[in-house]
Amino acid sequence: MANSVTLHPAHADLDSILVTEESIKRRIRKLGTDVAAAYGDEEITVVSIINGAILFTADLVRAIANPIRLDCIRISSYRNETKSLGKPQLFHSLTLDVANRHVLLIDDILDTGKTLSMVVGLIQKQSPASVKTCVLLDKKGRREVAFEADFVGFQIPDKFVVGYGLDFAERYRNLPCIGVLKPHLQNPPEWA
Ligand code: IMP
Ligand code: MG
Repeated sequence: MANSVTLHPAHADLDSILVTEESIKRRIRKLGTDVAAAYGDEEITVVSIINGAILFTADLVRAIANPIRLDCIRISSYRNETKSLGKPQLFHSLTLDVANRHVLLIDDILDTGKTLSMVVGLIQKQSPASVKTCVLLDKKGRREVAFEADFVGFQIPDKFVVGYGLDFAERYRNLPCIGVLKPHLQNPPEWA
């Protein structure tokens, strides 16, 4: 008989699982109702920071009952390393007009705070009605720029994590859970 639980092959590259697939699902349902409660029946312009926030955004928008417009913005702060390159680079900006709109900016993880503070700054220039931020993960201990998100899925320790949208060198985004990548698979092993 086939095994009822088939582990994703990439699980073998994880030291530990920090957030299970089930807890992600449960937390997103709650985040969806929290977001909806904060906006009443207003329309929300969701801006997703890709690629990292793709999976989280796809699940979260389905948990929010409000009317939603969706846009993506492409930012990169990492290369094939677990170390930040410093200044985040903007590769693709907004397509939708956000003037006088309620913007909800979504990212996978809040780390040094540089990415979200830069993107919030960019959006503010377009005179939105409001800007709020939502992240799945928050590594509070790593902040270099003062920044707090309005909605947070999980607080996590200062470890390099992959899965559910988060990558190392573009890999592991399709893992259904979030886990700590084995140190020997990180190059350079900064976060061991
Ligand atoms: P920040 O600008 O330092 O806050 O970094 C935010 C970005 O860094 C996120 O959008 C992620 O793409 C990336 N990042 C930060 N920590 C991790 C991690 O542990 N795993 C994968 N990506 C990360
Ligand atoms: Mg990323």
